[in-house]
Amino acid sequence: MEKTLILLKPDAVQKSLIGQIIDRFERKGLKIAWIKMMKMSQALIEEHYDFLMDKPFFPRIATYMSSGPIIAMCLEWADAVKVVRQMCGATNPAEATMWTIRWDYAKNIDNNIIHASDSPETAEKELNRFFNVSTEFFEYKRTLID
Ligand code: CMP
Repeated sequence: MEKTLILLKPDAVQKSLIGQIIDRFERKGLKIAWIKMMKMSQALIEEHYDFLMDKPFFPRIATYMSSGPIIAMCLEWADAVKVVRQMCGATNPAEATMWTIRWDYAKNIDNNIIHASDSPETAEKELNRFFNVSTEFFEYKRTLID
């Protein structure tokens, strides 16, 4: 089983889309391994979007991501990274495949509802960034499904 990190961004929370988006992942069969609501600090935003710090749109990302609470989630499944990214659609909702999460809910590339890790290696780094290994990591089995 592979793990991936999902962030439901502030616009997903503000539009009351938490349940609808989680429902899509659960219906597909993905397991929610860990989940929490949190606010991203400036330091966490700068760490997470470090590779975009020199882009002209970075200040917009920082304002957006600190504008309200987010949901951080670890999803687990075979090929979770690939499956989840397909379900999210392209970063730019204007280019997203029909009926994907960003196609359905995202307004534009600055307000694109969801983040999903882009590789298993990135997922491991990002999960450690958003979840505290010693206090928040635990494993459980879906005994009625898996
Ligand atoms: P995310 O998947 O969280 O990863 C990087 C984020 O940068 C991306 O979603 C977008 O929300 C944001 N972004 C804003 N403008 C751009 C752009 N022109 N190109 C790529 N990402 C952008």
